Amino acid sequence: MNSPEKDFQLRVMGIECAPLLAALHEVTFRGGEVWDATSFAALLSGPGTEAMLAVIDTVPVGFILARTILDETEILTIAVHPDFRRRGIGHALVQNVLGKGKVFLEVAVCNNQAAALYEKCGFVKAGLRRGYYRDGSDALVLVSSDV
Ligand SMILES: CC(C)(COP(=O)(O)OP(=O)(O)OC[C@H]1O[C@@H](n2cnc3c(N)ncnc32)[C@H](O)[C@@H]1OP(=O)(O)O)[C@@H](O)C(=O)NCCC(=O)NCCS
Repeated sequence: MNSPEKDFQLRVMGIECAPLLAALHEVTFRGGEVWDATSFAALLSGPGTEAMLAVIDTVPVGFILARTILDETEILTIAVHPDFRRRGIGHALVQNVLGKGKVFLEVAVCNNQAAALYEKCGFVKAGLRRGYYRDGSDALVLVSSDV
């Protein structure tokens, strides 16, 4: 799929991309909760889970992983390589998921950059999960506002 007037393209990927997603996740979430290739392969082999990769020329620069069950879609993770941020890639990845029913996600309360992205994409706060992350920090539950 082309993204007109952007310098990146979005591609739907299958389970074969698990090692690539793990590598991007590692560089994006270094020092945090990094998911390995086995975890991505397990997620991608489950029903309704889809990965969308952003590439510039042939270079993978970001991805979104989402799971759709009936009329609800959960954004499981999104990552854009630090060298390629603030050029609309994250926004394009989220927009691609919007429209797949009610879309929801969890985001760490301290993750201001992701919160700003989701706000721009029209998400609103739906709840708080205390101690959601391994380090004990809380997560906001956000839901798309266009449902
Ligand atoms: C969050 C993330 C995916 C955003 O990706 P991105 O490609 O840089 O986002 P975009 O360029 O599409 O930004 C879209 C909007 O989000 C907001 N935004 C993104 N990064 C921001 C930042 N660092 N500070 C403030 N606002 C920000 C802005 O409103 C921006 O629009 P603008 O550039 O016109 O002002 C990226 O920063 C990332 O991978 N972060 C680490 C991983 C992570 O936190 N994932 C989310 C887990 S829930």
